[in-house]
Order: sequence, then C-alpha cells, then structure tokens
Amino acid sequence: MDIVVCVSGGGTNLQAIIDKIADGSISDTRIVGVISNNRDAYALKRAEDAGIEAVCISPKDYESRDEFNEALLKGVDKFAPDLIVLAGFLVNIPEQMVVRYRNRIINIHPSLIPSFCGKGYYGLKVHEKALERGVKVTGATVHYVDEGTDTGPIILQKAVEVMDGDTPEILQRRVMEQAEWIILPKAIDMIAKGMDI
Ligand code: GRF
Repeated sequence: MDIVVCVSGGGTNLQAIIDKIADGSISDTRIVGVISNNRDAYALKRAEDAGIEAVCISPKDYESRDEFNEALLKGVDKFAPDLIVLAGFLVNIPEQMVVRYRNRIINIHPSLIPSFCGKGYYGLKVHEKALERGVKVTGATVHYVDEGTDTGPIILQKAVEVMDGDTPEILQRRVMEQAEWIILPKAIDMIAKGMDI
C-alpha cells in the first residue's frame, strides 16, 4: 500500500509511522511522499532524513484558494497513493480531493470525537478547551475524511487520563504518546491488511 502523509508542523505522528513501518508493526506499506503546506515544518526534515520525497505546497504561493486546491490535488495525484494520511495537516481538504479519494483519506484528531472537534479545534486549542471544560478523560481519534470538519466515520479511538496540574502542553504530549502515535499507525496497518473498518 502506497501512502502519502500530509503535515504542517513537528511531524511526530509522521515519525511514528516511519518507525512502525521500519519495525514491521505496519505491514505492506511504504510512504511514497510527504506534503506540507508549511515550508518551515520540521516534519519535512524528518521525511528527508528517512529518504522520503518531501514537497511543500503552500497557499502563500498561489493567487487564489482554487489555484492552491488544484496544486494540492495535482501534488497528491503525482504520487498515486492508495491512502492519504493527514498527520497534523492544518488545511481544509478541497471537496474535489475528498470526492476523488473517497474513503481513502484518514485524519488524526487529538480528542475523543465528537468532543472538542470541528472548525477552530486544532493543535493546542483542543487541549486548552478540554482543560477549560474540566474533563477527566480525553484522547485521540482516527477517522475517515469527508466533506465536513472531523465528521467522517471513526476508525479508532483511544482514551487518555487528564491529570491534576496538566497544562495544554503537558496534556498534548501525553495524548500524543499514549494515543496518537499508537492508533494512527494501527489504523494504517488495519487498512493495509484490508480489514473491514
Ligand atoms: C497532533 O496532535 C494531531 O492530532 C493534530 O496536530 C498535531 C500534529 O502533531 N491534528 P505532529 O506534527 O504530528 O507532531
């Protein structure tokens, strides 16, 4: 199974996928390309260090959103992926991409959907809202991407305890370590094995 991983930031989820392909816990899968909308994303360095072709397709380089959307779709098509993995990709996926890759785009979100998700809920903000609300348990979700924001069918979830004294940064790190870096590679492996999800 050929996958393209889309990133915007540090790339710790990308690194988890790279490591789990290398140690065999993700079977029959190779990363054929990494795409970032952010030229300064550390994730691009992780891809290059792993010998994976990495490209930046930034909205800043295009006159209009339509032009950017077209360039993004062309950039993905060039790799002819079986699956597209959104690993901290802070871009609204163009409708034509959702249609062309129906049920072949998955996303990791750092909460137990339907809590703390949707427009405006991304990165650290999710954990700030979880702490503000005072939840005792949070976690992460892998889901298919449809035309909505965080609304696609859920594939896997994993719960993580919220501890006294947690800051958004501490909680974010725990959710990554105890949930995201586990369920995203697992979901990819399940899809590679053709499991009914
Ligand atoms: C992760 O928490 C992911 O759930 C969210 O953005 C963050 C990206 O982290 N969508 P990284 O770039 O994989 O380290």
